[in-house]
Amino acid sequence: MRTLPALGAAALAVSLAIHAAPAAAQDAGSLNLICSVQDEWCTLLSTTFSKTSGIKVNMVKRGSGEALAQLIAERANPKLDVWFGGTGDPHLQAAELDLTVEYKSPSLPQLHGWAQAQAEQAGWRTVGVYSGPLGFGYNTELLAKRKLTAPKCWKDLLDASLKGEIQVANPNSSGTAYTMVATLVQLMGEDKAFEYMKGLHRNVSQYTRSGTGPIKAVARGETTVSISFVHDAPGEQMQGFPIATATPCEGTGAEIGSMSIVKGSRNLANAKKFYEWALTPGAQQFAAAAKSFQLPSNKTTALDSRIPDFKKIKFIAYDYAKYGKTAERKRLIERWERDVNSMPR
Ligand code: F6P
Repeated sequence: MRTLPALGAAALAVSLAIHAAPAAAQDAGSLNLICSVQDEWCTLLSTTFSKTSGIKVNMVKRGSGEALAQLIAERANPKLDVWFGGTGDPHLQAAELDLTVEYKSPSLPQLHGWAQAQAEQAGWRTVGVYSGPLGFGYNTELLAKRKLTAPKCWKDLLDASLKGEIQVANPNSSGTAYTMVATLVQLMGEDKAFEYMKGLHRNVSQYTRSGTGPIKAVARGETTVSISFVHDAPGEQMQGFPIATATPCEGTGAEIGSMSIVKGSRNLANAKKFYEWALTPGAQQFAAAAKSFQLPSNKTTALDSRIPDFKKIKFIAYDYAKYGKTAERKRLIERWERDVNSMPR
């Protein structure tokens, strides 16, 4: 495992962008990108790609569930070329719904097995670009002030002392929240998982639209605990916020953040150029440069020391194919609406 010093990735990003700028072609056309990672990473990716390729990038930022909804809505008249990032399950759904194209990248052998498996099970209509574990974020100052114990296990989140203290996203719009639903179902069995989520509901103050909303709220002291991807915490810590994370003692799931080319893309050659670039170790280092600490899918990407250590986390054997199916996601989200979200608190 190669590691980058703290400032190395950021410095590299800036230097690559500056040095590559003069080589950019005058008019290399455009690329319409929908991006489902954090704003800073989306912006760094699109500006650097644009500077180095001469391709004008029009980027919109959407959560995983919302990006899928947009692809479905635009099916008859597609306006997008590439969908970068977001949890893997809606990318698998997009493949199943014939909203994305088959593309077998020559870089596939350079990727980790989990990223290749994601491509294979989608019939090569998507590919893994990063992975990250689901866990909890908590505000260490608020915990101490309220004399609360830091959560270590899923069961700890049901404690009455956390009433109104937890935020998590809504699985309709957020891939993070759907990963939580699917993880609990696989960990506990479906009925027990829904009983658990009903108990959790009593302690949840708000279901946010975006998956990263809750950890930002924890960082800023607006809530004490969040259910979040733990790779989203170091970026908040770097801004000086009092935040720590844990991964559940019973076991947890991980996302395979993915990338797909949209069917009907009007800029297919540029879409492939971006796709290939995004799989290179050079481009994958822009995540850490933009304070995003997912595990990159290219085996040779230098690793920042703040990326969670997967070897220390207890993972479930997440069934990506099953929980990435349209019917399964729809059924579980409808049950969540009916059994959990409609309940009074
Ligand atoms: O860093 C952003 C991130 O946590 C990604 O790792 C993940 O794929 C994405 O957000 C999910 O966002 P949402 O839950 O809003 O769909």
